[in-house]
Amino acid sequence: MQSLFDTDGEIEALAPGAVLLRGRALGVDAELLATIEAVAQAAPFRRMVTPGGFEMSVAMTNCGAAGWITDRKSYRYTAADPGSGKPWPAMPAVFLSLARDAATAAGFEGFVPDACLINRYETGARLSPHQDRDEASYDHPIVSVSLGVPATFQFGGPRRSDPMKKAALRHGDVVVWGGPSRLAHHGVLALKSGEHPLTGRCRFNLTLRKAF
Ligand code: SIN
Ligand code: FE2
Repeated sequence: MQSLFDTDGEIEALAPGAVLLRGRALGVDAELLATIEAVAQAAPFRRMVTPGGFEMSVAMTNCGAAGWITDRKSYRYTAADPGSGKPWPAMPAVFLSLARDAATAAGFEGFVPDACLINRYETGARLSPHQDRDEASYDHPIVSVSLGVPATFQFGGPRRSDPMKKAALRHGDVVVWGGPSRLAHHGVLALKSGEHPLTGRCRFNLTLRKAF
């Protein structure tokens, strides 16, 4: 089956265990953006350095019990923001309910994330293909929410050599992957110049995961 319809919008299959839920976050978009702003007040966006010594083009912050970081030592989750030494801001209720709702729509019942990585892309920022594999267990799905300027998402398979599909991710779109796609490679092509009434020239992405 290529695509289905439910009450909230179109569901597009990307791969076994991976779906794109078009516009799933539209009903809470302004609330999500206001919440991102509040999180960033307490834990500012920063461009982190990879273990290989490269500064990422995407600026990041986190909320939830676990926050994803990278530095010269490793990629890992921490309970505290290394910038301030304080715990990451608490997981907002609106993030939890959207993650649970989207995961359920994708066939993953009872998802309770403890980590939300917040990515901010400016023009030209990109994320090269990678797997999300710093979590304690791969039994839980990943819920990824797009806000603002559209981007091109690449989604492949568990092997780096697997072919990658391209999908346009627009404001309010939600991608969920888990099960046979949990370790699929994925990335984001360089953000094209653009403007969105709610985010200006930026794209934001929420990546909700169960890390600990
Ligand atoms: C990620 O892979 O962590 C983020 C994906 C995205 O920005 O859409
Ligand atoms: Fe990722």
